[in-house]
Amino acid sequence: MALDIRPLHPVFAAEVYGLDLRNPPDADLVAQIDAAMHQYAVVVLRDQDIDDDQQYAFAKAMGPLEPNRATVDAHLHRLKHHEMADISNLDPQGSILAADNRRRLFNLGNRLWHSDSSFKATPAKYSMLHGRVIPPEGGETEFADMRAAWDALPDATKATIEPLVCDHSLLYSRALLGFDAFTEQERIDFAPVPQRLVRRHAGSGRRSIYLSAHIGNIYGWPRPEALALIRDLTEHATQRQFVYSHAWRLHDLVIWDNRCTMHRARPYDDQRYVRDMRRMTLQDSAPTLEQPV
Ligand SMILES: [Fe+2]
Repeated sequence: MALDIRPLHPVFAAEVYGLDLRNPPDADLVAQIDAAMHQYAVVVLRDQDIDDDQQYAFAKAMGPLEPNRATVDAHLHRLKHHEMADISNLDPQGSILAADNRRRLFNLGNRLWHSDSSFKATPAKYSMLHGRVIPPEGGETEFADMRAAWDALPDATKATIEPLVCDHSLLYSRALLGFDAFTEQERIDFAPVPQRLVRRHAGSGRRSIYLSAHIGNIYGWPRPEALALIRDLTEHATQRQFVYSHAWRLHDLVIWDNRCTMHRARPYDDQRYVRDMRRMTLQDSAPTLEQPV
């Protein structure tokens, strides 16, 4: 059965119809979804009324899972599956997190443009986020295509950035918002890791800029110069012609490829409305420095 694919944006992102994720996909369907991902990088599946077990089974069928969630207070986990990230404003008892809650303040870092798990030695491949409770306004997720952003760079900039290696850490992205309430153990766990600034996207063969709010330095560069360049590149790469904004509907499952996109959460009234999203994440094949360019 062929999937019904409808583009959502001129350069990337598509809605895909003809899927029912209540049952895990077979090899042929996995290959079709992968093919759509290779081209569009962001795929939206509407009306998937699935539970945690079904979301878990779908992710497992798509590839190797990330073994660990990276968050503060990781022991306060509300969900059944250890590997499923709780992207909500709820505490383990199901109450809305207070305005001064540490996990809430940490999670505000998701409002910055980033690529999931770029701060891990082997970063994330696909993220798969499912909407269980959607606020009536706000809370969109924006995506930016880092392949289109690369293509639009001047040749001189491409030559400058192609060989560069950056340090990524959760400590850096949270510092951008003034959050530094990490424990000593978290500072050890979130120590910086190196990643290439320019990658070749294995799915499409295209080049992409591997940007993320988690970047805190470029190897061999003075830090202010490094961060000024990263800021310029991020401004370039998140111009509106490269951005698809996803307005969530109940039971949307959105899959994105962290190897060639960035994303950010948009605000909503999180002291008034519940937003309950759950994410499964696939692990990439290797650290970016070990991948072909
Ligand atoms: Fe994210």
